[in-house]
Amino acid sequence: MTKLKQRLQERIEAERPRTARLNKEFGSVVIDQVTIGQALGGARDVKCLVTDISYLDPQEGIRIRGKNIPETFACLPKGSGAEYPTVESFWHFILTGEAPDADEVEEIEADFKYRAKVPPYVFDVIRALPKDTHPMVMLSSAILSMQRESKFTHFYHHGFKKDRAWETMYEDASDLVARLPEIAAFIYRWKYRNGQIIAPDTKLDFGANFAHMMGFAKPYDDVARMYFILHSDHEVGNASAHTTHLVGSTLSDAYYSLGAGLCALAGPLHGLANQEVLDWIQKFKEKLGGAEPTEDNVKAALWDTLNAGQVIPGYGHAVLRRTDPRFEAQLQFAEKHLPDDALFKLVRTIYKVAPGVLTEQGKTKNPWPNVDAASGMIQWHYGLREYDFYTVLFGVGRAIGVLANLVWDRALGYPLERPKSVTTDMLEKWAAAGGAKE
Ligand SMILES: CC(C)(COP(=O)(O)OP(=O)(O)OC[C@H]1O[C@@H](n2cnc3c(N)ncnc32)[C@H](O)[C@@H]1OP(=O)(O)O)[C@@H](O)C(=O)NCCC(=O)NCCS
Repeated sequence: MTKLKQRLQERIEAERPRTARLNKEFGSVVIDQVTIGQALGGARDVKCLVTDISYLDPQEGIRIRGKNIPETFACLPKGSGAEYPTVESFWHFILTGEAPDADEVEEIEADFKYRAKVPPYVFDVIRALPKDTHPMVMLSSAILSMQRESKFTHFYHHGFKKDRAWETMYEDASDLVARLPEIAAFIYRWKYRNGQIIAPDTKLDFGANFAHMMGFAKPYDDVARMYFILHSDHEVGNASAHTTHLVGSTLSDAYYSLGAGLCALAGPLHGLANQEVLDWIQKFKEKLGGAEPTEDNVKAALWDTLNAGQVIPGYGHAVLRRTDPRFEAQLQFAEKHLPDDALFKLVRTIYKVAPGVLTEQGKTKNPWPNVDAASGMIQWHYGLREYDFYTVLFGVGRAIGVLANLVWDRALGYPLERPKSVTTDMLEKWAAAGGAKE
């Protein structure tokens, strides 16, 4: 057993009695109530999910394992010459809540290299799809095609024991995380680079190997590390995390669950927003026809978008009520590495203007930028300009968070998810009576 799996087992054994006690002794304690607005409004703010991996405070932003974004970057080990921590060290952190030491990082790197071998048929599956297939379909299909390898499903059919289910879920989750960089890079090179595939370099860490397989020079290795860590986890209620959790609650394995979660990420109100941001910017620049972007013409374009009944991509959030710290982290990177980039300047101008425009419009509860408002701009700068690929990058990062959650879901024995639905008649009856009485 690796040191990480051993440590995870110790953590799980320490945590289990807490969940069991809460369930047994305090199961009927009320923690929330649901209004008609919430039942009709996508269950916003309804407190009915549990995860100890991350918590999203509306005013502060995300904390992963109790640490905010700068603290997370600061506490984890980095490779030599790198500005951002390795994804391998983050995998240890997100699973156990602890920063690994050098030996542990080395062991995870070796473990990932061993697991990273993508079965050849996965590439055949991707190649069989028409080239104009969206890369998120390619990614989800590739993941689903590997389901036959699931150790969890094998265990389910051969002497399944609930309290040991996390072990094979951990194996599947680790296999998947380790393989995703090569699958994502293959999709990219196959679809957009005439199929000129670059073989992995086993000497490199997760982020550097991804940069190498994509064909991008330094500091894209740090862009990859930063990007994957920033996009990993945002509580379990967001659509991609919740879908993964929901599918996993049926005891579907990690391949089914992640494949489904990524389909949720592909929606324009969720992960696709990063591609939409770039699309918005390109169309705006076309309209300008060579003129310089200014606060005034950006403002006019934002109003055009709103008046056309569309949302401003990259702005607003279902939970956050401030600028997303993940946006700030990317802005900081851009300030340091690409201060003169024209797109960066435009993203900054939009940031100056859009919150005011959205506030004036008065609809959104949060006029501030989210993670998607800056991410495409950095990718564009380093040569990744095929922006329908951006959600795949988000997906590789998101996989790390949702898979860590799946491991813990099975460790803590979370049951089949099954909220209750009601009818419009019932809502009208309760509305007239001032509340549900039964
Ligand atoms: C993220 C998002 C889906 C959250 O949705 P939400 O929780 O329903 O947000 P709100 O409660 O603030 O929405 C209230 C109203 O403001 C509108 N609104 C929210 N964000 C908006 C935006 N960026 N531009 C224009 N209108 C927006 C909503 O469409 C809604 O309008 P409606 O009442 O006519 O349906 C939403 O802000 C959005 O569509 N943002 C743009 C897409 C995006 O960036 N997605 C990535 C999220 S990480």
